[in-house]
Amino acid sequence: MPASENLRGNQPIGIFDSGIGGLTVARAIKEKLPYEKLIYFGDTAHLPYGDKSPDSIKYYSIRIAQFLLDNHCKMIVIACNTASALAYEAVKDFVGKRAVVVNVIDPVVQKISKEKKLKNIGVIATKGTIKSGIHASKIKKANAKQEVHGLATPLLVPMIEEGFFNNKISRSIINAYLSRPKIKNIDALILGCTHFPLIKPEIEEFYNNKIPLIDSAEEVAEQVYQLLKKNNLLNPSQKIPVHHFYVSDYTDAFEKSTRFFFSETIRLQEARIWK
Ligand code: DGL
Repeated sequence: MPASENLRGNQPIGIFDSGIGGLTVARAIKEKLPYEKLIYFGDTAHLPYGDKSPDSIKYYSIRIAQFLLDNHCKMIVIACNTASALAYEAVKDFVGKRAVVVNVIDPVVQKISKEKKLKNIGVIATKGTIKSGIHASKIKKANAKQEVHGLATPLLVPMIEEGFFNNKISRSIINAYLSRPKIKNIDALILGCTHFPLIKPEIEEFYNNKIPLIDSAEEVAEQVYQLLKKNNLLNPSQKIPVHHFYVSDYTDAFEKSTRFFFSETIRLQEARIWK
């Protein structure tokens, strides 16, 4: 659905995730589009989304979309694979022409399905994303010659949230998952969770840099740019904006972890949308 004519380039971009993992997407968008103002929402009250039912994910996502619309966002980026898999259509229907809605799965599918040499594609993601089978169905539709092999890796999100990466424990968990027969003979691996760019170096090390890794953050930032351009919605201002970061349940631990995900210290505010 085309965006409404009432939208303006100087409105912010809203980005949401179950928690702070989507900050990897926010960071890529900020790097690509430094003049765009960002409003980030992490639903830390309901983290993790990976184990929740589709109905719950839809309910949370629509309420968060309303929060972002109340904050005048011209675009809503669902920076969570689980919510993109289970709630994208529902959010799009709800938002209608009030904003452009972007998910983190389609840009990855578009990129990978054009790579003719890649036949066997692995995906690591949450249980919810893998159970939805969304990567397999979208990739098969775009390129019938590609086979998708999905593996749920539920320990990786809490491990990363706790700051466990680039050490012995994280390496041994990553190695145990990546050695599973299900994704043994793959030509490329999709990092199907917005937390995973943080462990990209360890995954590259496991594959001795021989398997391409598809990281949604960069692909999504490119798609955000293309869609804003197409809809004439790029911010005409060339001032570095002040971004806002909200969570639905504040703890110091979340604020501390944000620097892993955004590479600078940010101040989290609590938005009490559930309380
Ligand atoms: N960042 C979420 C995703 O991309 C995973 C975290 C969660 O389970 O809430 O799927």
